[in-house]
Amino acid sequence: MGKGKDGIEMRTNTLLAHSGNNPRDYFGFVNPPVVHASTVLYADAASMAGRSQKYTYGTRGTPTMDALTLAVDALEGSAGTIAVPSGLAAATVPPLAFLAAGDHLLIVDSVYHPTRHFADTMLKRLGVEVEYYEPRIGAGISSLIRPNTKVVFTESPGSNTYEVQDIPAIAKAAHEAGAIVMMDNTWATPLYFKPLDHGVDISIQAATKYPAGHSDVLLGLVSANETYWKQLYDGFCTLGCCSGPDDIYQVLRGLRTMGVRLEHHRKSALDIARWLEEQAAVAQVLHPALESHPDHALWKRDFCGSSGVFSIVLDGGGQKAQHAFLDALKIFGLGYSWGGYESLAVPVFLGDRTLAKGSYAGSLIRLQIGLEDVEDLKADIARGLAAAAAVE
Ligand SMILES: Cc1ncc(COP(=O)(O)O)c(C=O)c1O
Repeated sequence: MGKGKDGIEMRTNTLLAHSGNNPRDYFGFVNPPVVHASTVLYADAASMAGRSQKYTYGTRGTPTMDALTLAVDALEGSAGTIAVPSGLAAATVPPLAFLAAGDHLLIVDSVYHPTRHFADTMLKRLGVEVEYYEPRIGAGISSLIRPNTKVVFTESPGSNTYEVQDIPAIAKAAHEAGAIVMMDNTWATPLYFKPLDHGVDISIQAATKYPAGHSDVLLGLVSANETYWKQLYDGFCTLGCCSGPDDIYQVLRGLRTMGVRLEHHRKSALDIARWLEEQAAVAQVLHPALESHPDHALWKRDFCGSSGVFSIVLDGGGQKAQHAFLDALKIFGLGYSWGGYESLAVPVFLGDRTLAKGSYAGSLIRLQIGLEDVEDLKADIARGLAAAAAVE
């Protein structure tokens, strides 16, 4: 549920269909115009001097940007949302907007690798103290909080291994110390987990994945609560990292059908994950909606759905078996990213982890389950498993 047009309470798919632009604002056309803009003209010198009009320059906002960000605010329950050129930018802009030299950043060890790279290189260079924590730390995070801890960065479930974080407990401890809680919520999207309702201050999503849904657009979204919205927006304007109108339009278009697509991804991925648990060549399936997952109870408490990406652990065979699996696939493509209509598989690398290394019986493979027919996908995976099992 969320607040849609005219303050009416709407369920998720109604919100997705009707939030953002008002067709009446543009001659009744259902979709908003794609406004290509740098310059915005002012009526007179006084309004120019006072910047006293709604739109002032292309980097700071356009009607197209508003159509998307207002729709996302309705889903997130946020005070404001920015649209940036990639999901990675959505993870890097908030720390840049809030951290200063001498601040301490706590960041989950199962974070998306490029976010880690950003923290380890650029943030450290700017004088930020970067420290990783175990994804299952929960309320124990308070033992790591220092007087200069400014941001606690979370991502749940974690990339590739899908550890679920106790976000409410982490948020409580962080807030007691005056720290800001940021969360990369790309996996669940605000349809299956609403970060701000669980104590998160800044919600991050790679709209490249499910919102766009077609593997043809890069975009990131960052939504903030009332307390932090102004500073986030100021950081966005300072960096000039706005995204282009055509990409924004494509993501708004994707959002309209995201509910039905995500439900299909959810069902197919769960069906395949359960089936994989019974396959001899698979040692473990890392999917938090499975009862066998160590964080299943936490996932069930906080999430209201699961998306279409998870990992499997092969039963031994090392990298040779991993490559044999991947090379035998005919429907799954070998490629990065996820959330699109087509299935993908990638080898998982955990060598960057310092704490959440886990102990696995074999190598890991991440599967993104697309919108194809499940039986065809199972047949393709079975080809991969047979090839992996045949490795000496
Ligand atoms: C959890 C997570 N966050 C952020 C991103 C970055 O998104 P983008 O590819 O749009 O930069 C990804 C991409 O795979 C991701 O998996």
